[in-house]
Amino acid sequence: MNVDGRENVFPKDFAWGAATAAYQIEGGWDADGKSPSIWDTFCHGKGVVFQDQNGDVACNSYKLWQEDLRCIQQLGLTHYRLSLSWSRLLPDGTTRHINQKGVSYYNKVINDLLASNVTPMVTLYHFDLPQVLQDQGGWKWAGIADVFAGYAAFCFETFGDRVKLWVTLNEPYVCAKLGHEDGLFAPGLRDPGVSAYLAGHNMLRAHARAWHGYDALFRPRQKGLVSLALNSDWAEPRDPGSPQEVAATERYMAFTFGWFASPVFMTGDYPATMRSRIEARSLELGFPADRLPGFAEGEPRVLGTADFFALNYYTSRRVKAVSCPSGALSFKGDQEAEGVVDPSWPVSGVPWLAVVPDGLRKLLNYIKDTCHNPSIYITENGFAQMGPVDLEDSQRCGFYRDTLLEVSKAIHEDGVDVRGYFAWSLLDNFEWADGFSVRFGLFHVDRAHPELTRTIYHSGRNYAKIILRNACPSTTQS
Ligand code: GAL
Repeated sequence: MNVDGRENVFPKDFAWGAATAAYQIEGGWDADGKSPSIWDTFCHGKGVVFQDQNGDVACNSYKLWQEDLRCIQQLGLTHYRLSLSWSRLLPDGTTRHINQKGVSYYNKVINDLLASNVTPMVTLYHFDLPQVLQDQGGWKWAGIADVFAGYAAFCFETFGDRVKLWVTLNEPYVCAKLGHEDGLFAPGLRDPGVSAYLAGHNMLRAHARAWHGYDALFRPRQKGLVSLALNSDWAEPRDPGSPQEVAATERYMAFTFGWFASPVFMTGDYPATMRSRIEARSLELGFPADRLPGFAEGEPRVLGTADFFALNYYTSRRVKAVSCPSGALSFKGDQEAEGVVDPSWPVSGVPWLAVVPDGLRKLLNYIKDTCHNPSIYITENGFAQMGPVDLEDSQRCGFYRDTLLEVSKAIHEDGVDVRGYFAWSLLDNFEWADGFSVRFGLFHVDRAHPELTRTIYHSGRNYAKIILRNACPSTTQS
C-alpha cells in the first residue's frame, strides 16, 4: 500500500483523532455548580503533585473551548476524544441533581464538533470520580457500579442522539493500581495487594452495567458503540531463551493487559495465572480472604461488553522474574515480574516512556489473536517533552511517523482491523502527578500568558499533513 513507493496509505474512513481528558484541560474546577472530584481533593493536598500544581485552571478549556476547536480544525482531525466531568454534570454523583450549566457546556462542545465535521468520541470517566462518591467508598464500594450505570444512562440519554462512540472508563488498570496500590494518583490509597483488585473489579461491574444499559435501551435508536479504554505495554522476556523470563512475561501481560481484557474480551474471568498466583500468595502469607473477587452469578455478564477494542499504548518493556520474599502483600509480589527499559531504546522526556513503535504493532497482533480479532481504535498514543519548550519537536515528529508506519504495517501486512488513531494529546495539559512539567501536546499551551495561548508544534503541522493525505511518509517528512 505504498503511493510512489513513499507513502503508506490508511484505509478510507480511517479515524484521525486527538484526545484530551476533562481534569487535564478544563479548569473551572468549582465553576457554575461543579462539585470537587477526587483529583481536586488530591491536588489540593500537599506534596503529591509536582510543585503542588493542580488542575484548577489547567488549559481553561471550560472557558476557552473555541480556542481548542480552532486547534482541532487546524489539524484537520476527523475525530476528537474528550471526557466528561461527572461532577460537573451531576454534582452529587447521581441524577437526583443535574447541573444544567454542565450539560450546556458539553452540548456546545459536541454541537461545535459536529458542525465542524468532527466526530466526537466521549469518555465518561477519566480518573475524576466525584469526591462525594469517594466519601462513600469510591471504587471499593460495591454500590458504585449502579451509581455509575445511572450516570452513564444519563449521558447516553442527554448526548447519545449525537455521540456514537463511547468509552465508559479510561484505563481501569491505572486507576486501580496507581490510585489504590501505589497512592500516586487520586484517591491516593496505599493498600498494596488488596484494594486495587477490589477497585478494578467494581470498575468492571460498573462498565458492564453501563454497556448493558446502552445495549438494551439506547442502541436500538442511537446505534452507537460502547467500549472501555485499556492501557497496556507490550512485553517481551529480557532473555527469550530463559524459561523463567518467558513465564514472567506471561504473568506481566496477564496482570496488565489480561486483568481487564480477559473478563471483557476473552473468558469472562480474570486470567488463570492471576487467580492462581494471588491465591497461592494469600495462602503463603496467611491472608484470609480471596483478594481477587469472583464474578458473581446473577450479576450482569462482563464478557462481550465491548463493541470495539479501545487501546492506549505508550511503551514496551523487557521482563525479568522477581520474587518478593518479604511478608507483605503487594501487586508486584503477586505478579513476580518486573518490566525494565531495554538500554537500546530511545527514551522520551519522561523515563518511563521508552520509544518502541514496533511494540504497538506486536500488541495489535496480540489483541487480534487473543481477543477474537476485534475492530480496534488506538485511543491514546503520544510522546512526552520535558524541560525547555521546543516547538521544533523533531523527536516527537519521528515518533509519530515511526509509530504510524507500524500501525500501517499492522493493517496492511498483518490484517489487524485498526479503525482509528488518537494522538495524546491535543494540548499540553495537566499530566497528573507530573503537573505541567511533562508536555504531550500537538499544541503548546503558554502558561505564562494570561490567555493560555495555544501554539502548534512542528509535530502538529506534520500530523495535519498526514491526516490530509490519509497517509504517512516512510522517510523523513518535509
Ligand atoms: C494515560 C492517561 C492520559 C495521559 C497519558 C500520558 O495513562 O490516560 O490521561 O496522561 O497517560 O501519560
